[in-house]
Amino acid sequence: MQKDIFTGKKIILGVTGCIAAYKSAYLIRDLIKRGAEVRVIMTPSAAEFISPLTLSTLSKNQVIINTFPAHQPGGQNLTTWHIDYAIWADIMIIAPATVNTVAKISYGFADNALTTLVLALRSPLLIAPAADVDMYENKITQENLVRLEKFGHYVVHSERGELASGLSGKGRLAENEKIIDAAEIILSGYKKDLSGKKILVTAGPTYEDIDPVRFIGNRSSGKMGYQIAKAAFLRGADVTLISGPSHEKIYEEIKLKKIRSAAEMKKAVESEIKFNEALIMSAAVADYTPANVSPKKIKKEEKLSSIKLNETEDILASIEKNGKIIAGFALETDNELKNASKKLKSKNLDLIVLNSLKDKHSGFETDSNKVTVIHSSGKKIEFALQSKFQAANRILSELLKVKK
Ligand code: CTP
Repeated sequence: MQKDIFTGKKIILGVTGCIAAYKSAYLIRDLIKRGAEVRVIMTPSAAEFISPLTLSTLSKNQVIINTFPAHQPGGQNLTTWHIDYAIWADIMIIAPATVNTVAKISYGFADNALTTLVLALRSPLLIAPAADVDMYENKITQENLVRLEKFGHYVVHSERGELASGLSGKGRLAENEKIIDAAEIILSGYKKDLSGKKILVTAGPTYEDIDPVRFIGNRSSGKMGYQIAKAAFLRGADVTLISGPSHEKIYEEIKLKKIRSAAEMKKAVESEIKFNEALIMSAAVADYTPANVSPKKIKKEEKLSSIKLNETEDILASIEKNGKIIAGFALETDNELKNASKKLKSKNLDLIVLNSLKDKHSGFETDSNKVTVIHSSGKKIEFALQSKFQAANRILSELLKVKK
């Protein structure tokens, strides 16, 4: 298994003064769990919301609040600590970033320890703003966020939700999980290289009903497709996800269409594909469906001994391709490469992602996957066992190579 990208990574976490500052405690914990080293820098107003002691205890490092600290932070040079920190970091994350800090950074102010450090920073900067809805949606804030992106910083925009004021709307700090996913994108060397692209992803199993209680399903959890959708979004794409029954969660910015059966999946793909330039069909669509669905629960006394099945339509094979980039998946147990290549040709795909159930820690219900991507040219790229999020990114990078 490839080692976690966060292992040994040096992360500066900037915390600014807003109610969401308490979430930074969890963020530190999660980053450390992934193997990172975290040093925290706070604005004085952040220290009103959460105790520096909490953050220094969790990060196991001294917290910097003042531009002129009384002690040497983390054994650094007292006078040029901001330069030492700036050189040390692999990435700096500011979460939560108030609109005040966003404004200051976007105009190059260096009026406190945190903004001073930002100006000296050599590593990428990820900014996750948080504010009340009117402050967040204020045109000046929005323009400042655009300015930050123009300067090459990565913004994880606020989400919708209930805010501390009791108002609801956009302004809530993005979930820590999304901030960490975005940091992983940056640390892995990816950029928003899918900006402006519209991508349709399918995920999960389909359930074919037998009666109101029972169905025929499969073991797909949806994890792979959800990770593809997340990675594509974080790399700038406009993503629509069509999902069969799954417990996975998706970002609110991704348009989610939930379906149940293969027939519903087909209808949804057909209606969405025209708005997209690429389709990644990672769903485990049922090949058979009961010929008749009983409207009532089938009782034991009926002594049911068989269920007549009809073949479902093959979505990938039948979909109008119209110059779109089409990627399929092939889950195989034997003759993997041969079977996957056959599917690539017969379904007229640009690439196919092969999963072998023979590979340990791959396939259903796991967080890791070992995939081989086969292009229509016949070129094969075999990837090592890695997390599904990393595999998703590899697949997306291969998709980007398809020229249409
Ligand atoms: N697929 C589809 N519609 C179906 C069945 C499968 O679009 N009714 C898609 C899957 O989403 C996947 C690809 O076809 O991207 C291959 O699916 P897979 O189950 O591996 O192959 P099948 O074509 O169903 O063949 P088999 O089950 O015999 O291996």
